[in-house]
Amino acid sequence: NSESTLSITVVGASGDLAKKKIFPALFALYYEDFLPKNFVVFGQYNSEEHFVELNKKMKEKEAGKLSNRLFYLSVPPNIFVDVVRCASLRASSENGWMRVIVEKPFGRDSESSGELTRCLKQYLTEDQIFRIDHYLGKELVENLSVLRFSNLVFEPLWSRNYIRNVQLIFSEDFGIEGRGGYFDNYGIIRDIMQNHLLQILALFAMETPVSLDAEDIRNEKVKVLRSMRPLQLEDVVVGQYKGHSKGGKSYPAYTDDPTVPKDSLTATFAAAALFINNARWDGVPFLMKAGKALHTKRAEIRVQFRHVPGNLYKRKFGTDLDKATNELVLRVQPDEAIYLKINNKVPGLGMRLDRSDLNLLYRARYPREIPDAYERLLLDAIEGERRLFIRSDELDAAWTLFTPLLNELEEKKIVPELYPYGSRGPVGAHYLAANHNVRWGDLSGEDS
Ligand code: BG6
Repeated sequence: NSESTLSITVVGASGDLAKKKIFPALFALYYEDFLPKNFVVFGQYNSEEHFVELNKKMKEKEAGKLSNRLFYLSVPPNIFVDVVRCASLRASSENGWMRVIVEKPFGRDSESSGELTRCLKQYLTEDQIFRIDHYLGKELVENLSVLRFSNLVFEPLWSRNYIRNVQLIFSEDFGIEGRGGYFDNYGIIRDIMQNHLLQILALFAMETPVSLDAEDIRNEKVKVLRSMRPLQLEDVVVGQYKGHSKGGKSYPAYTDDPTVPKDSLTATFAAAALFINNARWDGVPFLMKAGKALHTKRAEIRVQFRHVPGNLYKRKFGTDLDKATNELVLRVQPDEAIYLKINNKVPGLGMRLDRSDLNLLYRARYPREIPDAYERLLLDAIEGERRLFIRSDELDAAWTLFTPLLNELEEKKIVPELYPYGSRGPVGAHYLAANHNVRWGDLSGEDS
């Protein structure tokens, strides 16, 4: 309202994330008139005195009105706590709210993450901490619950009775490109799986929440995470990309990057089989695959359904129909879409079956531009909507699942399987899936 002011401070304003995501998102929100009338954006501050000064400047702008203050921490993890300390001691709001947005890495295992949470909570309450997982701000990830809970035709099938396996796939068609300073210490499991893919899994698999309130949704997500079997070495395959020449062009190995140690064992690819030990999902493999420097850039959720029992057409058309079970795909990016693979009669005389799609292609149905995840999340933080942010117990549960595996990989110095830059990743991923009777991607091989 016009009597309150909003100050947004981006700490780490010169960083990559600020330039690529935060400022463009703020500008888009401003341009589309989503920001309150009185708002000011402040930039970089890096010492306690700076926060004292910042506070003065904020007060001038606020001119005695109700003042709300949002801090976006886009800084390396080793200074998180110090920045939060300075902000809360020197620049918190006297009469409005103060909220802090933080981005991963939230530690690198259960212990360091727990420690970070404890330190943050010396200065902030849980309600003030907005932990971002930007995948939760993506349009199709938000839509997952709409699809499930506001259509009759999906939710009754959403269990081990009808679903054979679920796949969560993230691939990028470029390598590390100078980000080794951060990445080499974390690896793909911490960078993508423990957060982005696991969050999608939790939303996918949770029970129906009591309401759409943030706490109700996060309660259900945490239950799923806590029902999962912690990962073991035999549940994963790790890989690292190696150099490759194709069509006269050569692509570097991960360890060729100047920011990466030559003997690095960090995984740039991982595939994992996860299980949820509850009544709904007992025995259903949830397969995750995440990799850099692969043949394509894509993020999708694939749900493969069971065979039609006693299929009449199987008698006529043979076992090929086994391959052609229904499959529901949510393509998160690029080219957002939801499609359902069905068996269909090819029009004409005689009887021939065909694999076809019921296809909701976003660019055809909704020609307007889809907002960036950061826009949605920033707006939610401003409005105090916590649904898409990670609560500390969710974070703990996520680390509990991955920490023993991550320790074992490091202690045993497991050597990642090399795969050529631009390929489909290590073949080990196929064996892992095969162990669970799963084939990655499209069952008929059309779009995998
Ligand atoms: C980030 C990871 O969280 O997500 C990056 O740290 C990754 O390694 C990025 O490239 C992918 O995000 P998006 O939105 O481009 O798919």
